[in-house]
Amino acid sequence: MISWKKEMDLNKSQRNNRKLDGPINILGIETSCDETSVAVVQDGERILSNVISSQIDIHKRFGGVVPEVASRKHVEGINFILQEALEKADLKLDDIHAIAVTYGPGLIGALLVGIAAAKAIAFAKRIPLIGVHHIAGHIYANHLVKPLQYPLIALVVSGGHTELVYMEDHLQFEVLGQTRDDAAGEAYDKVARAIQLPYPGGPHIDRLAQKGIPSIPLPRALMDDSFDFSFSGLKSAVVNKLHNAEQKGETLNKEDVAASFQESVVDVLVTKTIRAVDEKRVKHVILAGGVAANQGLRSRLKEKSVELGFDLTIPPLALCTDNAAMIASVGYFSYLKGDWSDLDLNGIAGLPLPKDK
Ligand code: KG4
Ligand code: ZN
Repeated sequence: MISWKKEMDLNKSQRNNRKLDGPINILGIETSCDETSVAVVQDGERILSNVISSQIDIHKRFGGVVPEVASRKHVEGINFILQEALEKADLKLDDIHAIAVTYGPGLIGALLVGIAAAKAIAFAKRIPLIGVHHIAGHIYANHLVKPLQYPLIALVVSGGHTELVYMEDHLQFEVLGQTRDDAAGEAYDKVARAIQLPYPGGPHIDRLAQKGIPSIPLPRALMDDSFDFSFSGLKSAVVNKLHNAEQKGETLNKEDVAASFQESVVDVLVTKTIRAVDEKRVKHVILAGGVAANQGLRSRLKEKSVELGFDLTIPPLALCTDNAAMIASVGYFSYLKGDWSDLDLNGIAGLPLPKDK
C-alpha cells in the first residue's frame, strides 16, 4: 500500500496549482479530554472560527472527567461542531489545506474520536493529515496572540500537565522539567475538593485566595537542582492541616487555606520559570494551559517581567483552556515543514513532547 504521506507528496503539484497561492487554511480538531473543539486558522495565526463545546457540566456531578462519558459526548458532538466551525469561518471543506488533530497525550477513547474524524476528512478530500501534540498546542495558543519570539520559555500548567519547555525555533521543544506527581491543576482540583468546592476547583480557589491571607505555613518543593515539579506533598500538607484542625474542633478559614495554597504553588512555578529564563537567557516567556487563568500566577509573572525585562504573553482565557485553534496553529507549521502523518495515525495516551517535531 502506498503511504498516505507519499501519496500526498505525489499530489503536491496538483495542490500547488489549486490552492497554495493564497492563505493556508488549517482545520484543527481537539478531543483529548472534555472539550470537543473544531477550528479554522489561517496561516497559523488568524482564527476564522474556534468552536468549543465543553462537557464540564456533565462531568461536574462525578467530581472529575469520566473517560467513557467523554468519548461518547465527543461522538455525539463532533459532526455538528465541525459544521459550525466551517460555517463560522465561511469556508467549505474544499477550501481547507490540511487537517490537524490532537493525537496525544489525553484520554485514549476521547483522542480516537477526533482522530477518526480527521482521517475521514483527510481521506475524502485527499488533503494532508497532521497529528499534533496537545502541549505543543497549548504553547502555540500564544502564537495566536503574538508571534512567538525565540528563544523562549513556556510554562504549561493545566489539569493534566506541568511542564517547563525551552524552544529555540518553531516546533523545537526541549522539556526542562515536568511534574513528578500531580499536575498543578490537579492539585488545585484536589485541594478544592478537600474544602468542599465544586469541580473544577481551580477557579474557586483562585477567587477565594484573593480574599484570604496566606497565613498557614505550607511546604514549597523547590528542588533546587532540578526544573521538575512536585505538588502532591503540598496537597497532602493542606489535607493534613484541615484534618488536624477538625480533630481539635476548629475550622480553618477557607479563604486563608486557598491563599496559602495558592502562594505556595505560585512561588514554585514562578521561581522555576525565572531560573530557566536566567539559565537559558531568553527574552520571551509564554504561559499556557488552564491554570494560566490563575490571577495570582498572572500577576506575579507580570511583576517579574517588568522587574527583569522579559516579554510575557498570556493568552486570553478561551485560548488558555483546551481549544482546536491552538492545534491548527501547530498544524500550520508542521504543514509548511512537510511533517505530515499517515492514515494509520493512532492516539497515544502518554505521548511525550517530541524534541524536534
Ligand atoms: O488546560 P485545561 O482546560 O485542561 C487540561 O488540559 O487539563 O486545564 C484545566 C485545569 C483544571 O484543573 C482547573 O481547575 C484549572 O485548569 N484552572 C485553574 C484556574 N482556571 C482553571 N487553576 C487555578 N486557577 C484558575 N483560575
Ligand atoms: Zn489541555
